[in-house]
Amino acid sequence: MRQFIILGHDVPVTDDFSLSDLAGGAGRLDVLCRCVGAAFFLSHGLREDVRVHLVVGDAFTIRFNGSALRRLYPDERTIASRIRDALAQRDEAIGHMPADVSAGMELYRMGFEATLERVARDGTVVELHEAGEPLVEAEPPSDPIFVLSDHHDFTDEEATLLANHAEKRLRVGPEILHADQTITVTHNWLDTAGYQQY
Ligand SMILES: C[S@@+](CC[C@H](N)C(=O)[O-])C[C@H]1O[C@@H](n2cnc3c(N)ncnc32)[C@H](O)[C@@H]1O
Repeated sequence: MRQFIILGHDVPVTDDFSLSDLAGGAGRLDVLCRCVGAAFFLSHGLREDVRVHLVVGDAFTIRFNGSALRRLYPDERTIASRIRDALAQRDEAIGHMPADVSAGMELYRMGFEATLERVARDGTVVELHEAGEPLVEAEPPSDPIFVLSDHHDFTDEEATLLANHAEKRLRVGPEILHADQTITVTHNWLDTAGYQQY
């Protein structure tokens, strides 16, 4: 299982935004949609052994489970629409009981700390950061849980949590990439690990 926790700092925590203004009024939701696309979609298929946790405004977490996902398509507008559907269910997410949104999607009333602590039980937490150790020199961990930020740096509080939970801090290359590009590189790293030819 590969998991990605992605922090959306400016995304609204309500469904009150326009699908035609993802990069503006929706707080760069376009970035998170591209991350979801990069995490799941192949050219002719979907990676079933993947989960994505979008942390929205440090208040809610939208979980996508690849083995159960239905009606999700690679275009940003469709993904944003599913996210808006999820946020419309916010009153149904009570305590740590999620709201069921649609097949393979749930909404949790949990911010980053609670999500990280819960997901960390199932694998190895890896902070993806442009100042980390080079990916190519690291051994792929079992059941990696990659944590990325959106278009902002990690806040001091997030960095402290990661320092306490992450077993590794890796950089995928010498350049600072967009978060979705970083996800593509990590998939490729895991897809090709141990192969002489592919
Ligand atoms: C656009 S970057 C965030 C802003 C960035 N600090 C900057 O100065 O532009 C989005 C996220 O992608 C990940 N990222 C970007 N480049 C990376 C790299 N070379 N290695 C590992 N992670 C990277 C990090 O998680 C980062 O927070």
